[in-house]
Amino acid sequence: MGFSEKQEELVKESWEIMKEDIPALSLHFFTQILEIAPAAKGLFSFLKDTDEIPQNNPKLKSHAVKVFKMTCEAAIQLREKGEVVVSGSTLKYLGSVHLQKGVVGPHFEVVKEGLLRTVEKGVGDKWCEDMKGAWSEAYDQLAAAIQAEMNKEA
Ligand code: HEM
Repeated sequence: MGFSEKQEELVKESWEIMKEDIPALSLHFFTQILEIAPAAKGLFSFLKDTDEIPQNNPKLKSHAVKVFKMTCEAAIQLREKGEVVVSGSTLKYLGSVHLQKGVVGPHFEVVKEGLLRTVEKGVGDKWCEDMKGAWSEAYDQLAAAIQAEMNKEA
């Protein structure tokens, strides 16, 4: 089944709300990731040498925002084109960064769970199963594109 207008709307609407609270939600996102997979700490340059998740680290915020924003863009593309299209150079870059950092398949599931929990927190009582489904599908397709590129380069 294709990605509906309603699904695109749910993702866009939640991202609009979340955008107002980036620092706190970025922190929440990484807290969730490390709660699910403590070992993932060693992957991130801004986490590996600290005991606590840094409060105002630009790299941490950047990764959180990239994941959220790109998933939101993926949702728009899914509705418009029926597939996620990441431009060649961006996809190549994404593939090589993650490959080089030692990211593997299961990490994408961890980040997905962290993302869903963060959207849930971010939107409060607007959270619903359909919103979860829309974010999940958009993320899965984006993650698949990145992983396909990683496999190509490996
Ligand atoms: C770096 C995006 C999933 C770990 C990056 C960068 C981007 C990006 C754009 C470049 C640096 C930046 O601008 O922040 C994404 C997207 C993802 C995703 C869109 C999923 C859809 C993951 C996953 C992991 C991961 C699953 C592993 C848990 C990293 C690491 C770096 C990085 C370790 C290097 C950051 C550093 O240490 O400074 N990612 N990423 N990413 N990503 Fe991801």
